[in-house]
Amino acid sequence: MGVIQNYGKLLPVTEKTPRITLGEGNTPLVYIENISKMLEIELYGKLEGCNPSGSFKDRGMVMAFAKALEDGAKAFVCASTGNTSASAAAYAASVGKPCFVLLPAGKVALGKLAQALMYGAKVIAVKGNFDRALELAREAAEKEGFAIVNSVNPYRLWGQRSGAWEVCDVLGQAPDWHAVPVGNAGNISAYWAGYKQYKEIGKTDKLPRMMGFQAEGAAPLVTGKPCPSPETLATAIRIGSPVSAHLAKAAVEESEGEFNSVTDEEILAAQKLLSSKGGIFAEPASCAPLAGLVKLKKLGKLPKGIKVVMVLTGNGLKDPDTAMSQAGSPVEIGDTLEELLEVMKG
Ligand code: F0G
Repeated sequence: MGVIQNYGKLLPVTEKTPRITLGEGNTPLVYIENISKMLEIELYGKLEGCNPSGSFKDRGMVMAFAKALEDGAKAFVCASTGNTSASAAAYAASVGKPCFVLLPAGKVALGKLAQALMYGAKVIAVKGNFDRALELAREAAEKEGFAIVNSVNPYRLWGQRSGAWEVCDVLGQAPDWHAVPVGNAGNISAYWAGYKQYKEIGKTDKLPRMMGFQAEGAAPLVTGKPCPSPETLATAIRIGSPVSAHLAKAAVEESEGEFNSVTDEEILAAQKLLSSKGGIFAEPASCAPLAGLVKLKKLGKLPKGIKVVMVLTGNGLKDPDTAMSQAGSPVEIGDTLEELLEVMKG
């Protein structure tokens, strides 16, 4: 049914861990034929936008909440570029506990903000970027004894391993490349841990190369130094000092992968490509890996015929403003058949 029900045996759950779920996980892994042909690879998208709050965060959030409830948590807190807050707010609502979410003021996509507010969290806009909001959330959690549900909470990464397990369960083994957008660097680390754990228990005989993609204006793992003023229209990954940088670097090194960056223009082009040729609408940050694959192809650095899984981390509906800025607008007509037929001719 959910991550704990499906994969509890591989997770640090005990008899006392509450079996909460909103039906997270078990998302489709879709072969994207048109773009596979174009890139001369076998390309799959893991549709994480199909999770209950519309992003991959739910996989880890369910574990973070379950473990915190097991420990008697009374209230929850997180900082977020949007998706973590939507997810935390959803689980808090479902278990009937208060939740405080700290967001970088004015830099959160509309859908995500609407979610956090509708689920009933206390939504706090911080005049600062995500990195600062996270510092505040950690301090407040410590002072007030709230459970922090950012990926500094190790149970978040545990739950997120389930994405890798599902990929292997569907493909029969790990892909050649695993491509993922990198912000706070938790997800790439969780996937790597998940693949390794699956190899240890004999569920895959190989491991993928971990390919992490960042936005050029927020690419500390590509440049190798923190980015004090991160900027990108992919607001989900607008992060300058990733908390799990050390784990992500280890994942890339051990797997002989790479970090690469892509520009906002390349991200937008990839978002359009994915929707118009793949029929999949993912939010801008989720399209950084595809932008990166297109770029690597142009540079002659994308081996032919390899199997690539890219994680489409969040639903495109979360950020209608960015989509509309490049989508064009409907053709308007009066209410006659003649006008309709006229525009249909093109
Ligand atoms: N894609 C989306 C849609 C995200 O929301 C995030 C992170 C990432 C990719 C990057 O994942 O941080 O594990 O490297 N969003 C966080 C949030 C920071 O607050 O919602 P990461």
